[in-house]
Amino acid sequence: MQRGKFITFEGGEGVGKTTQIRLLSEYLKTKGIECISSREPGGSPWAEAVRHVLLSGLADKMGLGPSGEAILFAAARADHVDSKIEPALEQGKWVLCDRFMDSTRVYQGESDDVAPELVDSLERIAINGHKPDLTFILDLRADVGLHRANARRKASEAVDRFEREDITIHENRRNAFLQLATRNPDRCRVIDASQTIDEIAFDIWRTVENVLIKPAKAEQEKRDADQTSEQNEAEEA
Ligand SMILES: Nc1ncnc2c1ncn2[C@@H]1O[C@H](COP(=O)(O)OP(=O)(O)O)[C@@H](O)[C@H]1O
Ligand SMILES: [Mg+2]
Repeated sequence: MQRGKFITFEGGEGVGKTTQIRLLSEYLKTKGIECISSREPGGSPWAEAVRHVLLSGLADKMGLGPSGEAILFAAARADHVDSKIEPALEQGKWVLCDRFMDSTRVYQGESDDVAPELVDSLERIAINGHKPDLTFILDLRADVGLHRANARRKASEAVDRFEREDITIHENRRNAFLQLATRNPDRCRVIDASQTIDEIAFDIWRTVENVLIKPAKAEQEKRDADQTSEQNEAEEA
């Protein structure tokens, strides 16, 4: 059984991560690839509880502090990886995740209050070697993204604490995502998220074909060919 692929979607609020995960998951199904979708923070029952504590502002209000929050995020991620992501990949399923390690870098890394060594160690412990095979960074002007996120929100839904922040903070995060992409060119692909939903989906499908599906097919064909030639040699001998 071939191991599944792990794809993450990153970027600011309203760039289209959730929309594109849904479309990619539908596309993969038409290709006969089984996949699951997940999100961070959260993804597993325990991690969803931590998500509530963090995003509601409760942790902040009770004075947990930035390092404590970073540790909570990491604990949630470790559980998500162990209980959901890794078992799915092992079963050959693909995993599409809405935010992952890069969001932590961008959101926690921007504050000087968390020591870079702590951020590095927590990342290592939490992902335990499970770096994504491919990461899409959906890139969009922060004001456009926030406008989309606001339009999407139902009147009954509260604005979460990250959405409440100043526009310059969102613009800084956009730049931080782009820098991460530059530092990790093998894994990250920047997508112009100001295009239409269909154009973005097409860019994503093309990239998934080129980076993951074709190489996996070639690998499988090589394995099959090797096996055939081994069989032929055994028969000749
Ligand atoms: N390319 C796009 N152009 C215009 N609107 C979009 C586009 N992609 C998504 N949207 C809309 O913007 C809102 C936010 O999209 P969503 O996928 O929820 O973003 P995210 O998950 O990144 O916050 C939704 O109402 C969605 O329908
Ligand atoms: Mg979303």
